[in-house]
Amino acid sequence: MNKYADELRKTAKAMVAPGKGILAMDESNGTCNKRLASVGAEQTEEKRRQYRELIITTPELGDSISGAILYDETIRQSTADGQLFREALQQKGMIPGIKVDTGAKDLAGHPNEKVTEGLDGLRDRIAEYYQMGARFAKWRAVITIGDGIPSRACIEANAHALARYAALCQEGGLVPIVEPEVMMDGDHTIERCYEVTSETLRTVFDQLATQGVEFDQMILKPNMVLPGKGCSQQASVDQVADMTMRCLMNNVPAAVTGVAFLSGGQDEQSASAHLNAMNVKYGDMIPWEVTFSYARAIQGPALDNWQGKQSNVEKSQALLAHRAKCNSAAHKGEYSPEMEKQPAMV
Ligand code: G3H
Repeated sequence: MNKYADELRKTAKAMVAPGKGILAMDESNGTCNKRLASVGAEQTEEKRRQYRELIITTPELGDSISGAILYDETIRQSTADGQLFREALQQKGMIPGIKVDTGAKDLAGHPNEKVTEGLDGLRDRIAEYYQMGARFAKWRAVITIGDGIPSRACIEANAHALARYAALCQEGGLVPIVEPEVMMDGDHTIERCYEVTSETLRTVFDQLATQGVEFDQMILKPNMVLPGKGCSQQASVDQVADMTMRCLMNNVPAAVTGVAFLSGGQDEQSASAHLNAMNVKYGDMIPWEVTFSYARAIQGPALDNWQGKQSNVEKSQALLAHRAKCNSAAHKGEYSPEMEKQPAMV
């Protein structure tokens, strides 16, 4: 029996507690720099620190956010006042988490497909992050839909890596967030996304079971079932909710503690509306908590407003808190588009 089992169960439950969700702020330096560049901010370590400080010090964030996923650089950084970010989170009732994969790399022999790396030395990195106060981790696999892809090779390689990562996390006391992301890029239909997401989830849970991962000590972070961004036939909110829930009910074991969706490039309001519809229509039937673990769909408006300027921090924090609140409501099935009309408090 794993000595961390009780702690892992408790942490997993807290991560998806009613009305709470997870804030993904674990962009790698490269991705964070791209986000900063998109709003005209400098791309330096100090700017990345300032941006993360803006997020972490947002008043009342802990009312809607159970935990925040940090990046290796961020978990070592501090506020301007010298408080470590990880301690600032804990003080506000949020659990620090950590991205531990080292990125999606080209899969040999399979053009346009990726496999996520990061298993080498992972046991030691997990021990260090646990000692720093992290209590959960994230690993993201990328599955692309296209002509003749995804291949079985891609799905199996990624599922195997996710399962080995998850087993190492549980051994070391971190709740694994298992994230197999079927991408929205492309012109595929929602039916095709359903098929690929089903096959991916089936393979991932098969591998998780093979590696001895405990389902009640993990969180699944899947994509929603959506048509590709370029598909001429877009889907209604109800259709997304119905197909996503059907896909998960058929492929995700009941013992899993929680499902925390990624936003994947959806606009902010759609990400809230979809999550809400799933909880309203299926809340009584599903065995897991269904919540959010968004990056772009929470951070977007705050980042756009900030532009790297100190004078914009307060308003950006209000915008961030508003998105967190909308998604917290969506977890409870209490979100409505009316909420979007309330001006963010400044
Ligand atoms: O790994 C991806 C992030 O954790 C979720 O990001 O909500 O912007 O898709 P996203």
